Amino acid sequence: MTIASIILAAGEGTRMRSKLPKVLHPLGGKPLIWHALQAVKGLVDRAPVLVVGHGADQVRATVGDIAEYALQAEQLGTGHAVLMAQPLLQSKADTLLVTFGDMPLLRNESLRQLIDLHRSSKSPVTMTSIIGDEARGFGRVMRDDQGNVVGIVEQADATPEQLAIREYNVSAYCFDAAWLWTTLTRIPASPKGEYYLTDVVSLAVSEGFRVASLVLDDPEEAIGLNTRVHLAEAEKVLQKRINEGWMLAGVTIIDPERTYIEAGVHIGRDTVILPNTYLRDDTVIGEDCQIGPDTTVINSMVGNHVHVLASVLEHAEVRDHVTMGPYCHLRKGAVLDEGVHLGNFGEVKASYLGPGTRMGHFSYIGDAKIGKNVNIGAGTITCNFDGEVKNPTEIGDEVFIGSDTMLVAPVKIGARSITGAGSVVTHDVPEDTLVIGVPARIIRKLERSDK
Ligand code: UD1
Ligand code: CA
Repeated sequence: MTIASIILAAGEGTRMRSKLPKVLHPLGGKPLIWHALQAVKGLVDRAPVLVVGHGADQVRATVGDIAEYALQAEQLGTGHAVLMAQPLLQSKADTLLVTFGDMPLLRNESLRQLIDLHRSSKSPVTMTSIIGDEARGFGRVMRDDQGNVVGIVEQADATPEQLAIREYNVSAYCFDAAWLWTTLTRIPASPKGEYYLTDVVSLAVSEGFRVASLVLDDPEEAIGLNTRVHLAEAEKVLQKRINEGWMLAGVTIIDPERTYIEAGVHIGRDTVILPNTYLRDDTVIGEDCQIGPDTTVINSMVGNHVHVLASVLEHAEVRDHVTMGPYCHLRKGAVLDEGVHLGNFGEVKASYLGPGTRMGHFSYIGDAKIGKNVNIGAGTITCNFDGEVKNPTEIGDEVFIGSDTMLVAPVKIGARSITGAGSVVTHDVPEDTLVIGVPARIIRKLERSDK
């Protein structure tokens, strides 16, 4: 048995009222289509086929070559959309898994069960449904007196009795490929001229097959997205899932309702996440950390035993035993080596701070390379921009930068040197040297006993 996946994503998503194609809207930090691809991961024998139409180029550019693409130039319905994949898959797969790109909460495990059910059934089509009270515009699953599926009726075409049915079509199917390719051409056009994929169910029944439906326990899996209201609903469900996943994996989350962890994040055991914390993109947090409250970490690497309070980290790297905050801002390219301490209101950009370096209060460090065990006094600034270009600052090991020092880059401070409070350093300072003043002048060489 060779299984292929077809994911429908050609619709316009008009009700999103957006410039972005619907399947590219982010949920948990990843586009909807990413979630649909995750759901079929490991279940199929070849790259999934995305049926694209509206925003096809943008979808292709985002997803790339992990999928194949079939173009549906005109959106003539879900049945017509599946047919567009035939040239790519004809005689390449005998079983087809069909899902929608706008249903990001369907679980991989549910689709695995769907495939198993299909294998054990003699019907060429196996479907999925949910039972619940919220119709959400879903098609209703019609059954006969014996409880056998006889067909699916779309909400728009349903009679009042049919509207009262509480079993809904999820739109995840498994098909025998050869049967589906011929049956798709037999779907009658709807009054609006669309070809509904749902009609193949009643066609199978009319051929004498007993169609099985996998009834999902968790109706939230079927939340599809048509509006941004649904997007927010889905986000809530996903956050709950992600947070519970991390808690069960050994992470403490004090208030899951106010903690946002995106799908690409990784967190080590015994780390504690405090409220109002956002962990985004491909952020990695180590073990035994304390992150938050009121912290945002974007695409950053954080080591073990790190404490971050009320700070923002973007594209930064923070190694073991760093303590930071409140109100620090690490920008792109900031690297804090082991045991660095940043106190209130520190900003670091494109700079490396060596092990044990301390920067307690109100400082800006940009384009700098700083050695180990350096003390950066309150209010120190690297004046890295001369109005035209960014210039580098270098500070050696065990330097003591006095409070309110201005380091006018490009400039180098040699190891173990000291700058006096309020100095404006415009020239390089050799090792073991005390400088003071505006502009800073060499006062004397330092002996070990000075320190
Ligand atoms: C569909 C089902 C409905 C089910 C519901 C569950 C049909 C006819 N109806 O309705 O029974 O309860 O999903 O979510 O199948 N698409 C294309 N090309 C098209 C039309 C649609 O690619 O020509 C794609 C859309 O981009 C979307 C998906 O198919 O990803 C579903 O289309 P949509 O119009 O949202 O169907 P529903 O009305 O939700
Ligand atoms: Ca839909």
